Amino acid sequence: EQIEKGGYDHFMLKEIYEQPSVIKDTYRGRLHANEGIIQMAGVEDNLEKFLNADRILIVACGTSWHAGLVAEYVIEEFARIPVEVEYASEFRYRNPIITPKDVVIAISQSGETADTLAAIKLAKEKGAFVFGVCNVVGSSISRETHAGAYTHAGPEIGVASTKAFTTQITVLTMIALRLAKAKGTLSNSDFFRYLQELEIIPEKVQEALATNEVSKEIAAKFKDSSNCLYLGRGYNFPVALEGALKLKEISYIHAEGYPAAEMKHGPIALIDEQMPVIVIAPKQGHYDKVVSNIQEIKSRSGKIIAVVTKGDTQVKELADHVIEIPETSDALSPLITTIPLQLLSYHIAVMRDCNVDQPRNLAKSVTVE
Ligand code: G6P
Repeated sequence: EQIEKGGYDHFMLKEIYEQPSVIKDTYRGRLHANEGIIQMAGVEDNLEKFLNADRILIVACGTSWHAGLVAEYVIEEFARIPVEVEYASEFRYRNPIITPKDVVIAISQSGETADTLAAIKLAKEKGAFVFGVCNVVGSSISRETHAGAYTHAGPEIGVASTKAFTTQITVLTMIALRLAKAKGTLSNSDFFRYLQELEIIPEKVQEALATNEVSKEIAAKFKDSSNCLYLGRGYNFPVALEGALKLKEISYIHAEGYPAAEMKHGPIALIDEQMPVIVIAPKQGHYDKVVSNIQEIKSRSGKIIAVVTKGDTQVKELADHVIEIPETSDALSPLITTIPLQLLSYHIAVMRDCNVDQPRNLAKSVTVE
């Protein structure tokens, strides 16, 4: 096992560090930035189905559901197709309206999650076209769907999902870009810019991994907290949810993710000097609004840990701690902002002596209801 961990203390840490290379594996042969080409066989073969869809419905569970939320934002913004994201477990039990004009995307790392599989079967019965985004080749979901695209993340052993999440976002962003190209909903220059930016994302993820040390220092300060709040807006709202999920899964600290602006409708009541608030505040995307949210936290004595773009000055003045990440456009930022949150949870869990790779009560894949 020590050999399989490749010199890392835990599978989770190894998998966090694999992200630059597995994101590359995921877009290899599919993304040709200089030629302005994005192609995935499963999408090309079924392009008309996607283009004729009244809407795209995404079904998933856990971290994969968070990737689905990022996909909702990116597909709607780039391709202007309405998207709905559902927990597979809710979808299957609520007599959903679904027609042959719907395209359903099922996201699953393992490809074995019982609720997601059942949601797929239901969608197929109603005549929808079902597309899978799975990591495990030959898994039940990859066989049950009409077509799909694999995330080439390699085996993920740590129960808390890390590299599966970023590679899912990579695939879903490529789908959004491909559909945008077919529909003409992005200008040529934006399309090229995003392709080029996606191509260099692995380097930026690598840079973001350099926040390991600072994340560890911050972890040491907050490891004994009993609660934690994660806030983000737009593309980084799902990242806030995922950051909170990572923390609760492996450190057993109660954590909640919230859209930053929604804080005033509830969570703000929880803020006092005991409450660490992790705010995702990159330069691109609602920055000024997030700054005012940070001021609201500060005036209530909350402890602010902010994820900011390198060179930021405004948030730095307000926050107790900052983690600096490289700049990206808003739409691709989840691939970067999520990295320090994974590291922060990892270090807190290690410092609390938790079983990082196999947290209590959780399973890597939930094949029962
Ligand atoms: C379990 C795992 C999570 C995962 C979820 C969905 O709860 O512990 O890490 O996100 O299942 O799994 P899937 O394999 O369908 O992505």
